[in-house]
Amino acid sequence: MSLPGWWTIDPTEPFTLGPRQFPGRIWTASGCFAYGLTGHEMKAEGFSSPYQGVGAVVTKTVTPQARPGNPMPRLVETNEGALNSIGLENVGFEEFLAKTLPALEEMGVPTVVSLAATRPEEFGDMVSRLHQAAVGFVHWHGVEINLSCPNVAEGGHDFGRDPDTVAACVRAAREYLPDRALLAKLTPNVTDISGLATAAAAAGVDAVSAINTVVGLEVDLKSGRPVLPRRFGGYSGPAIRPIALAKVDEIITRAKVPVVGVGGIGNDRDALKFFALGAVAVQVGTAQMRDPFTAARIAKDLAGV
Ligand SMILES: Cc1cc2nc3c(=O)[nH]c(=O)nc-3n(C[C@H](O)[C@H](O)[C@H](O)COP(=O)(O)O)c2cc1C
Repeated sequence: MSLPGWWTIDPTEPFTLGPRQFPGRIWTASGCFAYGLTGHEMKAEGFSSPYQGVGAVVTKTVTPQARPGNPMPRLVETNEGALNSIGLENVGFEEFLAKTLPALEEMGVPTVVSLAATRPEEFGDMVSRLHQAAVGFVHWHGVEINLSCPNVAEGGHDFGRDPDTVAACVRAAREYLPDRALLAKLTPNVTDISGLATAAAAAGVDAVSAINTVVGLEVDLKSGRPVLPRRFGGYSGPAIRPIALAKVDEIITRAKVPVVGVGGIGNDRDALKFFALGAVAVQVGTAQMRDPFTAARIAKDLAGV
């Protein structure tokens, strides 16, 4: 694509977010590129690895205890996207701290650690331990607190639909994170996402990431029942891009906080739409699972200014 005249940024150049300089503006989204430890040896024409030009890998969300995730099936494809109910399967915070984060540092992967918890104090505890364990690490750039996963909390309700809860989680994390970027990932499953963003900003985030998946349900016509054992899942991929753009626009016009845009980005044109609205960076999710070079390709295509 020939780049539009208004686009004057090289997204593979460093940029500042809060107290931190990130190596670039095209990131991979949490849960869609594992922990950033795999696939480094993969090659594609013009790319030495899927990490080439990628400004940050947001890790799979880590919780205080390891989680096995939800029963199968937990990921189904639809015509225009994917519906998942992974249930935050992850190695748990202890193993992440002991093995994953040091390995990411050694491999030089620009990292944003995604964390989830059920109480604000747990965010404070995890961030403080992360900070102690990572003294001197240069590739760990930030924490994204996942306040938006629709498939874990009881009854399918998102954690973090309440501005006061959002503010409490942000405050707890910020206290122990003076020198890394702090992002709050917001749920789109609310009527007023800008209220959540305003609360997060007042409590001290450097940016909000928007959006996480949209609550969805798919029916198996053979059985007449929902495909996912937990009925509801998180919808992602191309179908949600206009929803993500609307939510990003709402935040940018009503809340004074930088936004990292995510939702349905699969190529340079999609990414540019988020930048056109004023996003400071973007994340690639579902598309990265189909083609792990998607983020690298977008970075390369948009760097041609
Ligand atoms: C299989 C799968 C797993 C995901 N896991 C997480 C997760 O652990 N934490 C999180 O914050 N978001 C998670 N997400 C949401 C993505 O990071 C992203 O916000 C969402 O999918 C929308 O972007 P996309 O349309 O580019 O996929 C997951 C998405 C998918 C498809």
